[in-house]
Amino acid sequence: MSESDTKRPAAEVYKRLLGYTRQHWGLGLLAVFGMVIEGAAAGAFTWLMEPMINGTFVAQDAAVMRWVPLAIIALFLVRGVAGFIVDVGMARIGGSVVFQLRSEVLAKYQELPLSSFDREPVAMMVQRLSYTADQVARASADALKIIITDVFTLIALLIVMLYASATLTLTILIVTPVIAGIISVVGKRYRRLNHKVQDATSGLAHSAEQSLHNVEAVKIYAGGAMEVERFVAHAKSSERLNRKIIATQATSSALVQIMAACALGALVWFAGRMAVGSGLDAGKFVSLMTSMMAMLPSLKRLTNVQSQLQRGVAAGDSLFAVLDAESEPAAGTSPVDARQDLVLEGVRFRYADDKPWALDGVDLRIPAGKTTALVGRSGSGKTTLARLLPRFYSPQSGEIRLGALPIESIALAELRRHIAVVSQNVLLFDDTVANNIAYGSLQGASRADIEAAAAAANALEFIRELPQGFDTPIGDRGNRLSGGQRQRLAIARAILKNAPILILDEATSALDSESERLIQDALDRILKDRTAIVIAHRLSTIEHADQVVVMDRGRVQETGNHAELLAAQGAYAHLHKLQFRDE
Ligand SMILES: Nc1ncnc2c1ncn2[C@@H]1O[C@H](COP(=O)(O)OP(=O)(O)O)[C@@H](O)[C@H]1O
Ligand SMILES: [Mg+2]
Repeated sequence: MSESDTKRPAAEVYKRLLGYTRQHWGLGLLAVFGMVIEGAAAGAFTWLMEPMINGTFVAQDAAVMRWVPLAIIALFLVRGVAGFIVDVGMARIGGSVVFQLRSEVLAKYQELPLSSFDREPVAMMVQRLSYTADQVARASADALKIIITDVFTLIALLIVMLYASATLTLTILIVTPVIAGIISVVGKRYRRLNHKVQDATSGLAHSAEQSLHNVEAVKIYAGGAMEVERFVAHAKSSERLNRKIIATQATSSALVQIMAACALGALVWFAGRMAVGSGLDAGKFVSLMTSMMAMLPSLKRLTNVQSQLQRGVAAGDSLFAVLDAESEPAAGTSPVDARQDLVLEGVRFRYADDKPWALDGVDLRIPAGKTTALVGRSGSGKTTLARLLPRFYSPQSGEIRLGALPIESIALAELRRHIAVVSQNVLLFDDTVANNIAYGSLQGASRADIEAAAAAANALEFIRELPQGFDTPIGDRGNRLSGGQRQRLAIARAILKNAPILILDEATSALDSESERLIQDALDRILKDRTAIVIAHRLSTIEHADQVVVMDRGRVQETGNHAELLAAQGAYAHLHKLQFRDE
């Protein structure tokens, strides 16, 4: 689901975008009516040229001299009002389309499986919500406005021209297919270029974001120059593409204008002949000339609107790619009893088809109400195993069951309701301490419960020292807190959730031994009657686990309790010896 995964035909994208304007059909109709009026007013004005020239200057008719000026003023009044309705109406409809698309895409992001997030950088996702959605608005509002107004303007002007002289008008029409041909060729090239520009722009944002987020690493490893180089390469290619787009645009405008000039030359030539023989008078000729001149801006806008629409289609296409992506399958059994064994059978999983197996045939029983510790080298698949339990990812083969039920058959919300996770990398929200603990479904928790959870996570002391206590904002991603403080908030959140299944993935890794010991007692109490999966680096914290599972290269190497595994003199005993020596 990348930006280049865009195969929907343009017509389908237009239609789907128009669907978003449906609720504003009344306003839309009014705006379209305004556009028709604008077009008709343009025609009426050039038509007025005939009575103006013939009546005012040639015949010097007093009546015509009175009404023509009044008609001009009235015409522009009507046109002004129509223009206002069009602008305001279309802006409102366009704004509403952006709003709907943004909400839908953000909602969809919440439903996408984690694997989509591995494939697409967050910068690209944010880009879709901001820039891409705006581009779509321009397509469905500005471009539509130009198309309808200018097409009606052209029709009105054409009628005036035919009325003035059919022969001359038909001569001009011969040029039209040529112009149309050029427009279509240029449009195709434009659409291609535009896709590339969008990719380049988000690549640009991604590259900048990376170096800016990782500013500490960039500074200490003197990566600045490299980052700038990388960014400049992106910026250059983006700039090159932009130049190409401008060139394409400029060429098309120039070509169309040259065509029009040829038509004008032919017109003057023919008119000279006709004035001698047939009844082409001065008024009709001026009316025809002004009509033709008035067509030029409309034609020019219409050739450029093509590119604008293409840009909108490309943008809409990339949003629809998100909306059409498959959501996590959420339906299933509910309610379920979570106080049953978790069983993994022949579970194999890899993050992508071209990646090695992260779990390579895991058979494991995680007994209900007991603590199971996962240990093993980094990269052995512990985190991955823990991620499969709340169905963040689904195994490619094998089965995970809760009691007798395959977890795939449990309603996703129900499954996750029963699981609390403290993950390895704690990311918090830009909100207060209290709101970070009572997050999501925990929102309604009382202050007393929040404080109790914070106390159990040994977080009360540092929270009390914050300037506004529980109501202190903790900054973007919690960057005003230390790693250990963030971890304690995440633990408090998990404690508050009070779920029957608890997953702690190196949940105390960022704590010093002192704080860890303090939390450990609290954790031991909480783990007591729950199904707990504890991933630990420091073996001393899992000595009391009911079951210890040693993982290696995506497989279960050993299982047993601390004493049994030590006695077995295997991998666990080896790990233990290494750590014991260190301490
Ligand atoms: N999001 C991911 N995308 C691709 N590969 C991943 C991802 N997360 C982990 N891996 C890979 O899966 C393997 C197991 O990783 P992990 O479960 O995190 O190990 P552990 O938690 O035991 O250190 C590693 O080889 C790691 O590189
Ligand atoms: Mg891990």
